Amino acid sequence: MPSRVRKAVLPVAGLGTRFLPATKVIAKEMIPVIDKPVVQYAIEEARDAGIEEFIFVTADGKESIANHFSVQPVLESMLAEKRKYAELKLVMDTTLPPGGLHIVKQHDPLGLGHAVWCAKSLVGNEPFAVILPDDMVLSGVPCLKQLIDAHAQVGGHVVAVEDVPREMTNRYGILDIEREDGRLSKARGLVEKPSPEKAPSTLAIIGRYVLDPVVFAELDKRMAGAGGEIQLTDALNRSLDRSTFHGYRFEGRRYDCGTRVGFVEANLAFALAHPDMRDRMVPIVERLLKEYRAGPG
Ligand code: UTP
Repeated sequence: MPSRVRKAVLPVAGLGTRFLPATKVIAKEMIPVIDKPVVQYAIEEARDAGIEEFIFVTADGKESIANHFSVQPVLESMLAEKRKYAELKLVMDTTLPPGGLHIVKQHDPLGLGHAVWCAKSLVGNEPFAVILPDDMVLSGVPCLKQLIDAHAQVGGHVVAVEDVPREMTNRYGILDIEREDGRLSKARGLVEKPSPEKAPSTLAIIGRYVLDPVVFAELDKRMAGAGGEIQLTDALNRSLDRSTFHGYRFEGRRYDCGTRVGFVEANLAFALAHPDMRDRMVPIVERLLKEYRAGPG
């Protein structure tokens, strides 16, 4: 029986070059969607999925990420003195429990696989989640909880997948499917960024994984793949003689906040889903579209 998933690794050591100049001094993950940093949505999703320990794989200059989830005594006592209790609650709710926040430095951005490998000794020999905060998911049941529930049934590696248009397969890791059973697809492996003609399916992996720790034995080899980076997908493929591999078609919609268009889309979608904002946002979006369609002037 697979053991419970208690730990999540959040690789946040990337340079965020696609968001320069915003990311010159601000960590990409601290840029807010509405009123919360992107990374806070990831932490809330993980907490709602039952995760107890959070391992940030980070880099120099990104200290604000861990600080955001730590106590801020000066701010908290100022808010208490001013009797701003609602605001105080917002601040305190972001604090992770004692012992629940771990930070490990990657030093050089050698790739996602290397970032996950940096968390090896903190994860130990148990199944663990990996969350890429750039991918935000709006769903009824938190996306990671859906994956953890699926993992409880099948064990091994379980990754969140979604169908993408065939002409876009060259942007994703694509599953090579053996058989499908409802939302679960048992896979033979995955192909990194295949051309549309060569893609074995159109099921693409997004930034949510539940992994068997056998992947660390492959990451230990530090083999560089596409772009000279140590790729997580390569290590997963090489570990498939020791672990099963399933894709799970999650319920919900994903927004890729690693791109400018995806980031704006996420802001609009989360605002339209927000009970306090929806009624004011709908006419604004409609007016903007009307003005855009009417042309300049
Ligand atoms: P991305 O490919 O989006 O890279 O990484 P990036 O550096 O964040 O952004 P761009 O492409 O330069 O704009 C996917 C995830 O993996 C992490 C990133 O922080 C992001 O969460 N990552 C990537 C690392 O932690 N270390 C790495 O060496 C590479």
